[in-house]
Order: sequence, then structure tokens, then C-alpha cells
Amino acid sequence: MTVPAPLQGGPLQAGPPPGGTGPGPGFVAAVIETSALTKRYPGAVTALDQLTVRVGPGITGLVGANGAGKSTLIKILLGLLAPTSGRVAVLGLDCSRDAERIRARCGYMPEHDCLPPDVTGTEFVAHMGRMSGLPPTAAKERAAESLRHVGLYEERYRQIGTYSTGMKQRVKLAQALVGDPQLLLLDEPTIGLDPAGRAAMLDLVSRIGTEFGISILVSSHLLGEIEQICDHLVAIDGGRLLRADTMTNFTQVSQVLLVEVDEGTALLEAELAARGLQPRRDERALLVQIGSGETYDAVRDAVADLGLPLNRLEQRRRRVEELFRDDVPDREGAA
Ligand SMILES: Nc1ncnc2c1ncn2[C@@H]1O[C@H](COP(=O)(O)OP(=O)(O)OP(=O)(O)O)[C@@H](O)[C@H]1O
Ligand SMILES: [Mg+2]
Repeated sequence: MTVPAPLQGGPLQAGPPPGGTGPGPGFVAAVIETSALTKRYPGAVTALDQLTVRVGPGITGLVGANGAGKSTLIKILLGLLAPTSGRVAVLGLDCSRDAERIRARCGYMPEHDCLPPDVTGTEFVAHMGRMSGLPPTAAKERAAESLRHVGLYEERYRQIGTYSTGMKQRVKLAQALVGDPQLLLLDEPTIGLDPAGRAAMLDLVSRIGTEFGISILVSSHLLGEIEQICDHLVAIDGGRLLRADTMTNFTQVSQVLLVEVDEGTALLEAELAARGLQPRRDERALLVQIGSGETYDAVRDAVADLGLPLNRLEQRRRRVEELFRDDVPDREGAA
């Protein structure tokens, strides 16, 4: 296998630091790197706005609301769309100059359906294998393997037009896998699926990442989903980077105590306020800022003195959803 030449010069050089004999012990080559990436569509729509982000190996979630710019970014990474300005590299290759080499190394699962209804799953996936450069026999073998892997082996001789939505998503995933990619770009793989189908698809994506060791960028506007399978997260909003970090850092414990009683929440709220703790409501629970170790004792005493049935008392974890909310009570800097 040829090793991609790193980009020369500029802020995106994906090789080891200059001057050394090789990468240091902590050096991890970027899988995706963008620098001041901007995309404007005709009609004054800025889909990506000075986006600078670095994505390493592993499973990375690309999250953002509808219209945040996720699909635009993925298409630019594949060289299917040209950026208005800025630089972007995938697997050390420049997306403007080396788009074909990038596409040869990436599997792409597009957001919208693009499936021919009157061919069988196996014919379609084998055809996509041929398109990615495999000889005919290898393409057939790889197609069967990919279809088996996504759970469509039994249905592989059925016409795609007869597939359910879940099966169509799976055949899209199989064609992304068939060329033995180094990187998978999955644009909303759970779109249109019911909860069980979403869970199965996420499990599949997670297993592909861990068992095959393929790096994956998976987009979703459903933040709760992405939390489950990613080790890194890139959050964008209005084409701008909101935050890029490890999942652990996103969800680390906050300095907020969550207390939930089965009944008497209003009573407890008043009691905590009387003890100077300034409780805030969060659906059925109350949130209290942790000032010192005594906060725990004060909350416990308040619950005990009122004789209320305590359901939960825990230090709250951040939720990824909070990134996109302005009214978050515990948004103090990451501890
Ligand atoms: N071909 C186009 N021409 C003009 N505007 C476009 C085009 N494609 C996308 N846009 C606009 O660019 C912005 C980003 O769109 P994009 O499809 O990248 O977002 P997204 O995050 O993938 O959204 P979704 O979750 O709905 O798929 C949106 O405002 C969209 O309306
Ligand atoms: Mg999209």
C-alpha cells in the first residue's frame, strides 16, 4: 500500500514536527484537517465559516442541527464540492488536488437515497466495488462479505426496490465498506430509522470502527445517539466550530448536584432555598451548585428532615445537548 505524501507547507502539514528524526511518542497523524475552511453557496448562504478542526483516528461524531453544514463538510472532504476558501486535507492528501486518491481510500454513505431500485443488493455492492478499483472476482467476494457484515446476506439477491428503509441504509453502508477503506464518512446513517433500527445501525458502526480499525466520521443531528458510539466529537453550529474534544471531556462531571425525590419536589425546593442553596428545576429533578463538600450534607439533611422519598442524588454529568442550549444552568468552564 502506498503511503500518502503529507501536504507540503502551510498550516496543514500532516507529518511529524519539522527538524526531528521522526514523530514523537505522542504524535498521532491527523485523519482530517481543515484550516479556515469556508463554503458559500450562491444566494449568500455561508454553509461553513472559517472552520478549523483536526480529527484523529477512531470514531468521531460530527454533530450539528439541521443546516449546520455537516453534509457540506463531508462533500468537501471527498472533493465533491470545492471550498470557497481555506484548506482541507484527508489522510494527509489535499482535497482540491488529490480528490481521486482520497475517494479511493474513503467509503462514503450519503445522506439521501441514491439507490437503483431494479438491481439486487449483491449486484449493486459488487458494482461499487468495481468502481473502487477491485477486479471482478474480488468485487463479488468483497460484496458478499460486506453484505454479510451489515446483516443483509440472506436478502442479497433481492431487488433493492423491495428493501425496507433499514435495509436500504444497510446496503448503503455495505457499498461504503466494499472497497476496504481507511476512512468511512457516514452522513446521517440513522436517518429515517425507528429506535430499534437506529440502535442496530449505531451498533454496526461502532463494531466496524473497533473490529476493523477503520476511522469513521459519522454525522448526526441527534446528539444523544452520537454520544453512545464516538470517542471524539466535533460540534458545529451555523458552519462554525462550536467545540472539538474527546467524548470524555464533553461529558465530564460538572460541579452540579442533581437531587430527585419521588414526591414533594416543591417542598424540597423551598427547603433548599431556605438553606441558601439556590436550587433550580430540571424537569423532575432539582440542581444545586456544589459550593463545598457540605453541599451534599445539606441536601441529604433537607431530604431527611422533610421525610421525602429520595430517588437520586448524584453529581451531574454534562450532556452533549447542552452545547446547543443557551439556558444551561451549569455551563461553568470544564472542571
Ligand atoms: N446546493 C446548495 N445551494 C444553496 N444552499 C445550500 C446548498 N446545499 C446546502 N445549502 C445550505 O447550506 C447550509 C448547510 O447545509 P448542509 O446540508 O451542509 O447542512 P447539514 O448540517 O447537513 O443539514 P441537515 O442536518 O439538514 O442534513 C444550509 O443553510 C443549506 O440550506
Ligand atoms: Mg446533511
